[in-house]
Amino acid sequence: MHPTPSTRPILVIGATGAIGSQVVRALLARGAPIRVFVRSPGKVAALPAHVERAVGTLEDPEAIDRALQGVQAAFYVSPHDELEEVFAEHVVSACERAGVRLVFSGVHSGGKTRLARFAQRTIFGLLMPHYRGKLRLAERIRTSRTRPVILMPGNYYQMDEVCRAELLAGRYPFPMGLVPRVDTRDVGEAAARALLDPSVPGGDYALVGPESLSGAMTAAHWAAALGRPVTHVPDLAVTDALFGRAYGGRKALDCQKSYRTVGKVKVKTSAAELRQTEDLLDRAPRSFAEYAREVASEWLATERAAPPAHQAAITPPAAAAR
Ligand SMILES: NC(=O)c1ccc[n+]([C@@H]2O[C@H](COP(=O)([O-])OP(=O)(O)OC[C@H]3O[C@@H](n4cnc5c(N)ncnc54)[C@H](OP(=O)(O)O)[C@@H]3O)[C@@H](O)[C@H]2O)c1
Repeated sequence: MHPTPSTRPILVIGATGAIGSQVVRALLARGAPIRVFVRSPGKVAALPAHVERAVGTLEDPEAIDRALQGVQAAFYVSPHDELEEVFAEHVVSACERAGVRLVFSGVHSGGKTRLARFAQRTIFGLLMPHYRGKLRLAERIRTSRTRPVILMPGNYYQMDEVCRAELLAGRYPFPMGLVPRVDTRDVGEAAARALLDPSVPGGDYALVGPESLSGAMTAAHWAAALGRPVTHVPDLAVTDALFGRAYGGRKALDCQKSYRTVGKVKVKTSAAELRQTEDLLDRAPRSFAEYAREVASEWLATERAAPPAHQAAITPPAAAAR
C-alpha cells in the first residue's frame, strides 16, 4: 500500500552532490514537493521553478533550522570536509528539534545493537583511520531521536567516470580487491522511498549492486561496453592524480586514501545486503554491466563526434619511462 502523499516538502541537503542530485531526481520523478538546501543557488538554476530553494551553509545552524520548517523529512549526505562531524551535529540536532525524520547516506558500520556497531566500527576504524569521524557522525545519527534511516551504499559505480580518458585508452587504473558497488541512481531512489514512506522502519540499510566487483571484473565490463580491450592496471599514482585533477581538496584526499583500502579488501556482497537493497527499491539493483553500457555509449558517441582532446589520459609513470 502506498502512503498518502503529503504536501509538505522533503528537504534535500547536499542537493548538488553525487547522491543528493540523484535524490532530487528520484523525488521529482515521484512528483514529490521538494526544498533544496544549497550554498550556491546558481548550481540549482536548472531545477524546476516549483522546487523551493533554501540558501545557507552547514556552518550555520539557524539556516538549517529555517530550512527545516514545515518539512515532512530530510535527506543528508556528509560532505568531505574536516568539519563534517560539526556539520552533522548541526543537522541532526536541528532535525531532533523540528521532530523531522532524517534519512542519511554515508559510511556507517551497521548492526542492530550498539555493541555490534561498536565492534564493527573499531575494525573499520583500524582499516580506514581517516574514516573514524565519518563513523562517529553516522552513529550519532543512528542513535538520534529522528527515527533515522541510514543508507550504507557500496562504492559508487559512477566513481569510474573520473578515469574516462584512461578507460577509453584501454586501462582501468583504480586498485580494487573485491568490493560491493552500487549505482548512485539506486541510492537516490532508495532514499526517495525512505523519505516519502513513513512506514519504512528506522535502521541501517546496505545498498549494493547485484555482485561485488574486483578490478579485473570491472575492467572486463568496461571492455564489453566499450567494445575494445580494457586491462586492469592498478596504479595508485595514477589514481591519486585522477582524483587530484577531478576534485582536489579534502574530497580528493578522502578518495585517494579510500582506494588504498579498496585495493586490499575482499568483501563479498551478502544475500542479506542484496535483500535490503531490493526491499527499498522494490526491484533488483542496476548491474554494473548495465551502467557501463549506458555510459560507454555516451562516451563513444562523443568520441565519434570529436576526438578526446579535452582531457588526456594520465600516463602511468612506469609506461612513460619505457
Ligand atoms: N564515493 C563513494 O563511492 C562513496 C561510497 C559510500 C559513501 N560515500 C560517502 O558519501 C559522502 C559523499 O557523498 P557525495 O559523493 O554525494 O558528496 P559530494 O558529491 O561531494 O556532495 C557534497 C554535497 O554537500 C554540499 N556541501 C559541502 N559543504 C557544504 C557546506 N559547508 N554547506 C552546505 N552544503 C555543503 C555540496 O555542495 P556544493 O555543490 O556547494 O559543494 C554538495 O551538494 C562522503 O561522506 C563519502 O564518504 C562515498
